[in-house]
Amino acid sequence: MTDAVPHPVKLAPSLLACDFTRFGEELRAIEGADWAHVDVMDGAFVPNISFGLPILAAARRASPLFMDVHLMIERPERYLRDFADAGADGLTVHVESTPHIQRAVDMIRDLGKKVGITLNPGTPLEALRPLLADVDLILVMSINPGFGGQKFMPSSLERLRTLRRWLDDSGSKVELQVDGGVTPQNARAIVHAGATCLVAGSAVYGPDGAQAGLERLREAIK
Ligand code: DX5
Ligand code: ZN
Repeated sequence: MTDAVPHPVKLAPSLLACDFTRFGEELRAIEGADWAHVDVMDGAFVPNISFGLPILAAARRASPLFMDVHLMIERPERYLRDFADAGADGLTVHVESTPHIQRAVDMIRDLGKKVGITLNPGTPLEALRPLLADVDLILVMSINPGFGGQKFMPSSLERLRTLRRWLDDSGSKVELQVDGGVTPQNARAIVHAGATCLVAGSAVYGPDGAQAGLERLREAIK
């Protein structure tokens, strides 16, 4: 079938959408996922404050999942060591969040964590080019970061296709992740555009629970 999913795909539920009064249960409900996505917001880089180190440390204690930490904070290099110590397995930083992105990338590498970089929908992809050889993950933001539950920006598909081409041309195997507005309805198109890892908050932590939400996403990309 020509429509077959072209490569294995990781699912990374975003804890931002979970019920924090039942944090331990909400983490157990996604144990069938590949990663847990942890959204840290500082109210400065993005217009919202989410949570920080103690919540990551609690998630780390409660779950064996790979902790994929998305830092939406200004000058993240100030806190990389703290997030590594609190239990991050991967740290993703925004190219717009520091004048010294290469230094931040090197610091994550030196801490022994998976290195991720990302960029807002309004930032040209060229901003990533100099870093491609130094990272393990590239995250394409398909919404303007700051809030869960927003609508997927269709222009992200073209950005994914471009990055997929750059990566394939250089033989790179880095993870190509997408974050924002991912649903069972658009997941297949996103994977066909080249994504290898899907972050999903509201599509997983819906009214019928995370296990059902995760299952719907898996079905959509079978
Ligand atoms: C937003 C965060 C996302 C968010 C996604 O700034 O980076 O990870 O949780 O939520 P949904 O899947 O609901 O768009
Ligand atoms: Zn995120």
